[in-house]
Amino acid sequence: MVSLREKGLASSLGRSLLVTGGAGFIGANFVHYWLGHHPQDRVVVLDALTYAGNMASLGGCLEQDNFRFVHGDIGDQDLVETLLAEEGLDTVVNFAAESHVDRSIHGPDPFVTTNVVGTHSLLKAAKKVWLDGGSGRPHRFHHVSTDEVYGSLAPEEPSFTETSPYAPNSPYSASKAASDHLVRAYHHTYGLEVSTSNCSNNYGPYQFPEKLIPLIILNILEAKQLPIYGDGLNIRDWLYVEDHCRGIDLVLRKGRAGEVYNIGGNNEWPNIEIVRLVCALVDERLGASEPLRQRFPRSPFCLGRTAESLITFVKDRPGHDRRYAINAGKSRNELGYAPLESFETGIRKTIDWYLASEAWWRAVMNGSYRTWLEMHYAS
Ligand code: NAD
Ligand code: TYD
Repeated sequence: MVSLREKGLASSLGRSLLVTGGAGFIGANFVHYWLGHHPQDRVVVLDALTYAGNMASLGGCLEQDNFRFVHGDIGDQDLVETLLAEEGLDTVVNFAAESHVDRSIHGPDPFVTTNVVGTHSLLKAAKKVWLDGGSGRPHRFHHVSTDEVYGSLAPEEPSFTETSPYAPNSPYSASKAASDHLVRAYHHTYGLEVSTSNCSNNYGPYQFPEKLIPLIILNILEAKQLPIYGDGLNIRDWLYVEDHCRGIDLVLRKGRAGEVYNIGGNNEWPNIEIVRLVCALVDERLGASEPLRQRFPRSPFCLGRTAESLITFVKDRPGHDRRYAINAGKSRNELGYAPLESFETGIRKTIDWYLASEAWWRAVMNGSYRTWLEMHYAS
């Protein structure tokens, strides 16, 4: 393999990152963010291209000299060791995961394989190349995790801090919790320079439309039901994806090795309120644009109804966590982290991105896409 460094394409001043899961929702946003904010750095994406991975989300990056895409699995330790060593990589940002709670309930195995065993394999590769190999190279292994590891909050309970006890309730959150513990252990036992960020629910461009916000936007445009699990009063803290990327950037540049940082939006919403907001904003966009009405003639607005008329309460998710809320005080105080996007602006940007990116989501829908609900409750 001829490395980018051998090809003389890299600057000796910059970092060299391995971004795992870089073809997924947050990973792709992170790659765009990183190349835009740190053009002197090199980025190698390692992605297995599962149903959630999409090369189209990396459009524009593929032509850049300081970017390389590698199709592969984080569980392939030999491949990761080769990449770290031959590409001279000094940073891992681990986004690769199975990420959908509903899928984890139906089939937990891939969650254990990728999130637990795969992350452990990555850690072993990093230890071997960066520590055992005696390179002495400054390094950082950053692990991207979730607030779901802390479990569910009652309405009046204070939000999660970095010292909240772990209490994961779904196979997804349990697998993420296990990987967080392994990352911590590799720091304390072997001295690997790790950091972990636990973030709240993200939304924004390139999100696979099985997750709540893109599912609602696209179902309105396609005149499909808007499924609300249970009573719709489960609460999540929502963060625009670029603010998450900004938070990870701060952790990488200013965060201390061995530390955990919570990243959140201070933006709690019951699901039903989010869905009503998205309905109102999509109706507003269609009402203001004849070209949009021509493109989406089946949407309720075009038939004289409201998008809200599609709301349908369905059977609840088993073990559905009631409330998540993040206290990002440590990130704010230590790193200067603060989200830049308000929910009002972020959700409008997101809707506009989906309206403008029909080719992207049509390709996803025409692929292997079926919602968990369609797969398991079709009858
Ligand atoms: P995603 O499902 O959109 O993307 C996951 C990516 O990982 C895909 O590109 C997939 O192809 C790749 N992948 C899966 N298994 C792999 C393997 N074995 N080897 C290599 N690549 C593999 O997920 P996302 O929403 O972008 O989440 C990214 C990370 O952020 C996850 O670790 C998730 O736990 C965490 N997180 C997500 C959210 C959220 O709201 N989406 C919130 C907090 C934390
Ligand atoms: P989701 O986007 O799957 O994220 P997570 O489960 O990781 O929080 O779901 C967000 C919330 O929306 C969660 O409380 C489940 C709920 N939800 C629905 O009510 N209907 C849906 O079709 C989906 C996908 C989620």
